[in-house]
Amino acid sequence: MCNSKLHNFLERLPKVELHLHIEGTLSPELLFKLAATNKIELPKSDPAFASPEALQARYDRFTSLSDFLHYYYIGMSVLLTEADFTFLAYEYFSRAHTDKCVHAEIFFDPQAHTTRGVAYETVVKGIAEAQRKAKEDFGITSKLIMCFLRDMAVASANDHFTLAANHSYFSDGTIAGIGLDSAEVGFPPELFRDVYAKAKEAGVHRTAHAGEEGGPDYLSGALDNLQVERIDHGVRLAEDAELMKRVAQEKKLLTICPISNVKLQVVKAVSKLPIRKFLDAGVQICFNSDDPAYFGGYLLDNFCAVEEAFGLSIEEWKGTAEAAVRGSWADQERKEEILSQIDTYVSNYN
Ligand code: ADE
Ligand code: ZN
Repeated sequence: MCNSKLHNFLERLPKVELHLHIEGTLSPELLFKLAATNKIELPKSDPAFASPEALQARYDRFTSLSDFLHYYYIGMSVLLTEADFTFLAYEYFSRAHTDKCVHAEIFFDPQAHTTRGVAYETVVKGIAEAQRKAKEDFGITSKLIMCFLRDMAVASANDHFTLAANHSYFSDGTIAGIGLDSAEVGFPPELFRDVYAKAKEAGVHRTAHAGEEGGPDYLSGALDNLQVERIDHGVRLAEDAELMKRVAQEKKLLTICPISNVKLQVVKAVSKLPIRKFLDAGVQICFNSDDPAYFGGYLLDNFCAVEEAFGLSIEEWKGTAEAAVRGSWADQERKEEILSQIDTYVSNYN
């Protein structure tokens, strides 16, 4: 419960989540439980791995993206079986449902699993089963976005694209698009030009993390070289007025993750994010949770953090909710259904 006047409004507003790493929903409790079941040894030399409570306390003081990524990759090493991925993803959907999330597009990092001997098929089949159950139990529709780790060799991204493209989860639309994540600075978007071109040719959607720790060059690099349809994070766009105009004009959606940006020290507080600047410049934005188990905030928590910091109007909230739907990769019929749910909800509020 936040202190804003709009808390009740935000709570029941139908929401779309477009920036969520499924591996980032692994809580310290589940991490320890799976480590025991799967007989994975956690690093003894790091006192953070003494207990779930110690690990949680360490999560409360990340110093940077790379500090977080260190724990994120160790954490996901406990995920081994199809059932592990199904459990993880179903828990996320069930939590998202309590926040009134009606559609989610979920990142996963295949290279971080195949490199430890977990088959691509195990990961996708496990998550796809959770998607099926979440649709049945909660009515949540969802898509998967396969991310490439930008700090791994480009050849590995190409190999994983080929692996995915030869699989039925590609042709049946379970995997709707590709993304680019992990350490940003030093790994510019242009490195991945060829694999993004192949994806475009195959009719696959494209997004990329850009302008989280990297400057505006990473954003323009993603727009020019990767032909992305949306940008993940993108908060450093505000440093370049011309580029901001371009992004507004081209209606490229930024999937902003406010609590993540504070936890990873991108900004000191949510109030320091350029959210008002983006809205005033007509940049399309929406709010998301990124890695909620690591940053301590799910979808509604992020909405509340924004409202407490900026006091957006109901019309502005409606605008961001609609921007998320329009920028999503749901089919047209589903988009219209959600847009109509939002419209009815806002009209009946008061
Ligand atoms: N992988 C998971 N979360 C990430 C983030 N916030 N930035 C880059 N890569 C990530
Ligand atoms: Zn992210």
